[in-house]
Amino acid sequence: MPANQYGFQHGIDIMKKLTLAVAMLLTTLGLQASTEQEADAIAKRIAPVGQVYVAGAAAATEAVAAGPRSGEQVYQSACFACHGTGALDAPKPNSEAWKPRLAQGFDVLLKHSIEGFNNMPAMGTCTTCSEDEIAAAIRFMTDGV
Ligand code: HEC
Repeated sequence: MPANQYGFQHGIDIMKKLTLAVAMLLTTLGLQASTEQEADAIAKRIAPVGQVYVAGAAAATEAVAAGPRSGEQVYQSACFACHGTGALDAPKPNSEAWKPRLAQGFDVLLKHSIEGFNNMPAMGTCTTCSEDEIAAAIRFMTDGV
């Protein structure tokens, strides 16, 4: 088989996986927002943005200085779509599935989260996250293991 044919097939496989991941993400977000509790949580998360908009420049400075998001916040907003549901076989928080992964050492987990690893997308889809925030989210998912 010529090399370019393989490359094409590989490209299609990746597209399929990505499409599936995005579809699952959207489905999960849809389900998530449909419960009242989640709607509350979402309202709380976007609240600071609304306040900044209303209160003007002084508040905007405060919001920027508010500091990093907690591991739980990052998990809820970015990682939950797969890790909360087990989509694409993502290990669920505080499950046994983390044991062999933790055995690799935290640095490997962090590296895989930042760069991506098989179906695990780079930065866990949190494009605005710092590496510290990603590390906090990993700790949140693995603390009880
Ligand atoms: C699109 C789905 C998806 C999202 C969103 C996602 N993950 Fe993952 N993640 C996966 C899958 C699937 C695996 C298992 C990959 C494998 O082992 O082949 C995984 C594995 C991991 C691992 C283990 C890597 C290893 O070396 O064993 C860590 C750590 C991780 N994810 C962290 C995160 C964090 C932190 C976030 C949120 C910021 C996140 N993930 C968001 C799908 C996702």
